[in-house]
Amino acid sequence: MKTGREQWGSRIGFILAAAGSAIGLGNIWKFPYITGENGGGVFVLIYLGCIALIGTPILIAEILIGRSTQKSSVSAFSDLAGKESNWRMVGFLGVGAGFIILSYYSVVAGWAMNYTFMSITNFFEGKSAEQIGATFGTLFTSADINLLWHTVFMVMTIGVVIAGVKRGIEKWNKILMPLLLGIFLLLAIFSIFLPGWKAAVNFVFYPHLDKLKPSGVLEALGHSFFTLSLGMGTMITYGSYLNKKTNVVKSAVMVSALDTGIALLACLVMFPIVFSFGHDPSAGPGLVFKTLPIIFGEIGNIGMLLSIIFFALLVFAALSSAVSMLEVTTAYLIDEKGWSRKKATYITGGAIYLFGIPSATAGANTIFPDWAGMYGKNFFDSFDYLASNWMLPLGGLFVAIYAGWFMDPMLRQAEFKGGTKFTQSWFYSVWLFFLKFIAPLAVILIIAQRVGVIDIDKWI
Ligand code: PHE
Repeated sequence: MKTGREQWGSRIGFILAAAGSAIGLGNIWKFPYITGENGGGVFVLIYLGCIALIGTPILIAEILIGRSTQKSSVSAFSDLAGKESNWRMVGFLGVGAGFIILSYYSVVAGWAMNYTFMSITNFFEGKSAEQIGATFGTLFTSADINLLWHTVFMVMTIGVVIAGVKRGIEKWNKILMPLLLGIFLLLAIFSIFLPGWKAAVNFVFYPHLDKLKPSGVLEALGHSFFTLSLGMGTMITYGSYLNKKTNVVKSAVMVSALDTGIALLACLVMFPIVFSFGHDPSAGPGLVFKTLPIIFGEIGNIGMLLSIIFFALLVFAALSSAVSMLEVTTAYLIDEKGWSRKKATYITGGAIYLFGIPSATAGANTIFPDWAGMYGKNFFDSFDYLASNWMLPLGGLFVAIYAGWFMDPMLRQAEFKGGTKFTQSWFYSVWLFFLKFIAPLAVILIIAQRVGVIDIDKWI
């Protein structure tokens, strides 16, 4: 039933909501630390290539699929490919990925909440870089504090999703996304004056080929999906609340550009601090929490204020992404099973909360003490690895194959051009070429290399 379905209030509302989904912990927490772990430059270059050549074409495809069916992921595939079609599995894969990612995403958002409160108490003032580094370790290993924040964050996420698309998601993004960009620009200016600025720029932008680990390529690919919220039906679902008048291509390109801009800015803010204070760029998941407070602590009252604003905005950036993950599972149950929004949100949100508990306590290692010994990574990292590096790229691959090879060409073209002023079709042809050939091939090659079916090093 198409009547009565919620819609975004405006085009800019959609762009900000989609950007709100894309911009999150992925940009500010994850991208800098995996860049650090993978040696900088080359990793960044591969990541940018993945965003431009694979991510953005798939982003356009996801939004188109959503808009043309006005349905969330699983139902969209039922509509396009048939009720019995195996393509529905792509939708289910996404629902599963959303479930997994949100469960540990909430834990990281909890760290940001804890840091917001530490900022309010002016905790960082007068602390040395070592003390600030050690603080993160203490937080990471405290099961009860992590559980508390995980609970608070999931309650907030459920609250926003219950309020619905327009009132809940769109309203807040309109205010908070521009603010986030503003504070990052301000912090970047601070960083330029640090002694480590040059070393940081060199680290982030100069491709030191020897530093890339083979696993880094898969990680760059996985992260390009993670950061654009691709491969799990988020953008299909958000596209489904979009009217036919909106220019999808332009919106998608803007979302990609904003997302990439914030990720690079985050690096340019953080790495100068890392190099100025002799920190290790490969400090792992604690990077943002171990670096920024050093600067905040050094600049007195303004530092305290900036610190509060920064971590609070990080929480909101995380919330707007978390909301988009929960929306995928919720919209599936609403569209497919006819549940009310309230019931769907409570039940899925509750289940995700429970599944997140072992991640919240991963640092304390209380729930599955043998996990890391058996799987080589703790519970939290194992599921991050599974969802980001495997489920999202596979989901994205199938979306590209479906939209490129199986979707009704007339419908695809009409949706692509709807709302645009394109008179020539070259842009459409370029997009289709990327969707049909480049994106699937690249994903397949990277996965084949990763599982050892091929060895690209030998070809070069
Ligand atoms: N894109 C979000 C981020 O970068 C995470 C996300 C992944 C959100 C998948 C929705 C779907 O933080």
